[in-house]
Amino acid sequence: MSREIIVEAAAKINLTLGILGKREDGYHELETIMHQVALVDRIHLSPNPKGIELDSNSRDIPLDETNLAFRAAKLMVEKNGQKAGVSIFIEKNIPVGAGLAGGSTDAAAVLLGLNSLFKYDLSREALLDMAAILGSDVPFCLVGMPLREKSHNIFGVNGATALARGRGEILSGLPGVKLRNIVIVKPDFQMSTAEVYGAFRLDKVKQFPDTEAFLQSWMTGDNAAIAHQMVNVLESVSIPRRAEIGVLKERLVEMGAANAIMSGSGPSVFGIFADKPQALDAARTLKREYQETYLVSSY
Ligand code: C5P
Repeated sequence: MSREIIVEAAAKINLTLGILGKREDGYHELETIMHQVALVDRIHLSPNPKGIELDSNSRDIPLDETNLAFRAAKLMVEKNGQKAGVSIFIEKNIPVGAGLAGGSTDAAAVLLGLNSLFKYDLSREALLDMAAILGSDVPFCLVGMPLREKSHNIFGVNGATALARGRGEILSGLPGVKLRNIVIVKPDFQMSTAEVYGAFRLDKVKQFPDTEAFLQSWMTGDNAAIAHQMVNVLESVSIPRRAEIGVLKERLVEMGAANAIMSGSGPSVFGIFADKPQALDAARTLKREYQETYLVSSY
């Protein structure tokens, strides 16, 4: 029996998503608060002399090199100059193409997991550099992953919540606040991140997040006050294209959410409820229409 390790990979939601402008490299300059929620994939890793092999219980993800987890394994193995191979099994729970960083968090788990499995002993900083090569959300996902080794988080990042700038890779950790009664709904279609960002126009944005005000609410820990500061500027692209996103936001608020917004580039929408029974009711009702409905708390 070869060794197997299992890394838990949490989904993220964007509590705010602001865009400051387009950069010369084609990416957008972000100011976004990212937060990990207790909706997790499990990544099983074991040495495989035949090379890198990927499998999953999900039929929604590619099992070849186009999968970010595969690319993460390839990058790790190549960078470390060994011909090691690995079997990766992705136990998928996070909806795909949803704006919840499912692919990014799986990739981050592969980086952390292989570092431990093959004893590469790379620093947190080296892992974060590799994460940023793979994708803009991967560094955040990595930073929030509970470390198995005894080591300190660098960059002062405190686990599962961070203010992200740059492409999303420049992270400042926020103190831990527990958010409860988060209802996440993934409508029955996917959205392409590149397409949503590509269609973004600053002059079409009606409301920008106020990061200063958000941080003040965050410090109080009051879930409803925090929810009231949630804004995502990418809704200015997605809602005109897919009215259902706007309708879901309204429905969550009608059902008692303090506020509801889209996560990332969508199409998932989430609402934060102050009242647990109302959140339960909303999740139950929406689940009848949307199979991918989840009631979660912070990770
Ligand atoms: O970094 P990642 O590969 O996840 O980004 C996917 C796409 O999203 C990019 O190709 C780009 O079009 C867009 N994007 C962006 N600005 C960011 C992050 C992503 O324009 N800060």
